[in-house]
Amino acid sequence: MKSRNGLAAICLLLAIVWPAVAQTEDPCASCHEETVAAMTSSIHMRIRSFEVQGHSVGCEGCHGDGAAHMESGDAAKIKRFDDAAEWNSTCLSCHAKKGQPQWAASTHNVEGLGCVECHDPHQIDSNPAATCKSCHADTVAQFQLPSAHPVRDGKMSCASCHDVHGSTEAMLRTKMRVNDLCFTCHQDKEGPFVFEHQPVQEDCRTCHVAHGSAVNNMLTANEPMLCLQCHDLHFHAGYNSAAAFDVGGVPRYSPFGPKSYNVSFSTKCTQCHSKVHGTDLPSQSVPGLGKSLTR
Ligand code: HEC
Ligand code: HEC
Ligand code: HEC
Ligand code: HEC
Ligand code: HEC
Ligand code: HEC
Ligand code: HEC
Ligand code: HEC
Ligand code: HEC
Ligand code: HEC
Repeated sequence: MKSRNGLAAICLLLAIVWPAVAQTEDPCASCHEETVAAMTSSIHMRIRSFEVQGHSVGCEGCHGDGAAHMESGDAAKIKRFDDAAEWNSTCLSCHAKKGQPQWAASTHNVEGLGCVECHDPHQIDSNPAATCKSCHADTVAQFQLPSAHPVRDGKMSCASCHDVHGSTEAMLRTKMRVNDLCFTCHQDKEGPFVFEHQPVQEDCRTCHVAHGSAVNNMLTANEPMLCLQCHDLHFHAGYNSAAAFDVGGVPRYSPFGPKSYNVSFSTKCTQCHSKVHGTDLPSQSVPGLGKSLTR
C-alpha cells in the first residue's frame, strides 16, 4: 500500500510541476532523438525528474546510470538485459505491487513471460490488451463465433474478466466461484430465488461457455439436448402417438416411445420453462409443487 501511495503522490506532484519538467532537455536525446521523441508523452518520461524508491525514472530508470555510455557512445556500457527475469526485476523494482504475491504465482510468470512481452517499454501507454492475440490466437478466435461476449466490438476486453497479473484459477477477476465473476455484470441471475435451478447455483459453465459459441446465448449445446443431458423427456416435450395409452378415457402418449426423441428435437424446453435461471413465482401445476420454472 505504501509504495502505491508513493506513486500516486508523484502523479499528483507531476500535474503541478509538469510545465517546468517539460522544458528540461533529456541527456539521451542528442543521440537517441527518435526514442526520446516517441516517449515524451509517456508516463515514465513525464515523471523523469523524480525519484521512485531510490531510482530516477525516465530512460535511466530502466537502463541504469548512462554516464559512461554517454561519454563513449559504447553500446556495451549501458545496462543490457538477457532474459525476462532480468527485465521483470527492473520493472518490479518500482512496480512492487505487481510482484507480491500475485504476479509471482501467476501462470504468465511461471511460463517465463516478461512484462515487456505485453507492455512495449517505450510505448507504455499503448493498449496491452492487443497483445493477447499473439499467443492466444485460438481464444481470440472464439470471440468471432456467432454468439460471444462483445470483445470484438470493443465493448469489453480480456481484462474485463482476467487479471493478467493475477494468480487465481485461469487468472479470473474473482477470488471465489466463477459465478461471482458473472454476477458482477449479470446481477439478475444471482437470486436468491424461491424456486432455484440447481446447476445455475453451482456453475454457469454447466450450460454456458465463457468466450463464445456457435449456439445462441453462448450455450454449450442446443435445446433440447442441453436439458436432456440431465432430464428425461416428458409428456409435452416428446411423444409417440403409436404408443398411446388410456387414462380415464383420455388418450395419453408415452414420452418414451420409439419416435419420441425425434419429436423432441423440435421442442425448446424454455418455451415453457422460461425461467431456467430461477424465479420467485410458483408454476401453476399442482403436482410440480410450483417449482417447474415456467413463469
Ligand atoms: C553520445 C551519443 C549517445 C548518448 C548521449 C547516448 N547514447 Fe545510447 N547509444 C549510442 C550508440 C552509438 C549506441 C549503439 C548504436 C545503437 O544501437 O543505436 C547506443 C546504444 C544504446 C542502447 C542499446 C544497447 C544495446 O546493447 O543494444 C541503449 C539501451 C542506449 N543506448 C541507451 C541510452 C540511454 C538511456 C542514454 C541516456 C542516458 C543514452 N543511450 C545516451 C550513443 C549514445
Ligand atoms: C520502462 C523501461 C524503459 C524506459 C523508461 C526506457 N527504455 Fe529503452 N528499452 C527498454 C527495454 C525493455 C528495451 C529492450 C526491448 C527489447 O528487447 O525488445 C529497451 C531498448 C532500448 C534501446 C535499444 C534499441 C531499441 O529501441 O530496441 C535503446 C536505444 C533504448 N532502449 C533507449 C531508450 C531511451 C533513450 C529511453 C528514454 C527516452 C529509454 N530507452 C527508456 C526499456 C525502457
Ligand atoms: C524507476 C521506476 C520505474 C520503473 C523501473 C518502471 N516504472 Fe512503470 N511507472 C513508474 C511510475 C512512477 C508510474 C506512474 C504511476 C503508476 O501508474 O503506477 C509508472 C507507470 C507505468 C504504467 C502505467 C501506464 C498507464 O498509462 O497507466 C505501466 C503499464 C508501467 N509503468 C509499466 C512498466 C514496465 C513494463 C516496466 C519495465 C519495463 C516499468 N514500468 C518500469 C515507475 C517505473
Ligand atoms: C500478459 C500480458 C501482460 C503481462 C505479462 C504484464 N502485463 Fe501489466 N497490464 C496488462 C494489461 C492487459 C493491463 C491493463 C488492464 C488491467 O488493468 O489489468 C496491464 C496494466 C498494467 C499496469 C497499469 C494498471 C495497474 O494495474 O496498475 C501496470 C503498472 C502494469 N501492468 C505493470 C506490469 C508489470 C510490472 C509487469 C511484469 C511484472 C506486467 N505488467 C506484466 C498486461 C500484461
Ligand atoms: C508471449 C505470450 C503470451 C501473451 C502475449 C499472453 N499470454 Fe496468456 N498465456 C501464455 C502462456 C504460455 C500461458 C500458459 C499456457 C496456456 O494456457 O496457453 C498463458 C495462459 C493464460 C491464461 C490461463 C491461465 C491459467 O491459469 O489457466 C489466461 C487467462 C491468459 N493467458 C490470458 C492472457 C491475456 C488476457 C493476455 C493479453 C493481455 C495474454 N494472456 C497474453 C502466454 C501469453
Ligand atoms: C466474460 C468473461 C471473459 C472474457 C471477456 C474473457 N475470458 Fe478468458 N476465460 C473466462 C473464464 C470464465 C474462463 C474459464 C473457462 C473454463 O474453465 O471453462 C476463461 C479461460 C481462459 C483461458 C484458459 C484456457 C481456456 O480457454 O479455458 C485463456 C487462455 C483465456 N481465458 C484467455 C482469454 C483472452 C485472451 C481473452 C480476450 C480475447 C479472454 N480470455 C476474455 C472468462 C473470460
Ligand atoms: C464485465 C462484464 C461481464 C462479465 C464479467 C460477464 N458478462 Fe456476460 N455479457 C456481458 C455483456 C456486455 C454482454 C452482451 C449483452 C448484449 O449484447 O446485450 C453479455 C452477454 C452474455 C450472454 C448472452 C450472449 C448472447 O448471445 O446474447 C451470456 C449467456 C453471458 N453473457 C453469460 C456470462 C457468463 C456465464 C459469465 C461468467 C463466466 C459472464 N457472462 C460474465 C458482460 C459480462
Ligand atoms: C441449466 C442451464 C443454464 C445454466 C446453468 C445457466 N444458464 Fe444462462 N441461459 C440458459 C438458457 C437455456 C438460455 C437461453 C434461454 C433463456 O433466455 O432463458 C440462457 C440465457 C442466458 C443469458 C442471455 C439471456 C438473458 O436471460 O439475459 C444470460 C446473460 C445468461 N444466461 C447468464 C447466465 C449466468 C450468469 C449463469 C450462472 C449464474 C447462467 N446463465 C447459468 C441456460 C442456463
Ligand atoms: C447439469 C444438469 C442439468 C441440466 C443441463 C439442466 N438441469 Fe434442470 N435441474 C437439474 C437438477 C439437479 C434439478 C433439481 C432436481 C431436484 O431438485 O430434484 C433441476 C431442476 C429443474 C426443474 C425443476 C423441476 C423440479 O422438480 O425441481 C426444471 C423445470 C428444469 N430443471 C428444467 C431444465 C431445463 C429446461 C433445462 C435446459 C435449459 C435444464 N433443466 C437443464 C439439473 C440440470
Ligand atoms: C409445452 C410446455 C412444456 C415443454 C415444451 C416442456 N415442459 Fe417440462 N413441464 C411443463 C409443465 C407444465 C410441467 C409441470 C408438470 C407437473 O408439475 O406435473 C413440467 C415439468 C417438468 C419437469 C419437472 C417435473 C418432472 O417431470 O419431474 C422437468 C424436469 C421438465 N419439465 C423438464 C423439461 C425438459 C427437459 C423439456 C424439454 C425437453 C421440457 N420440460 C419441455 C411444460 C413443458
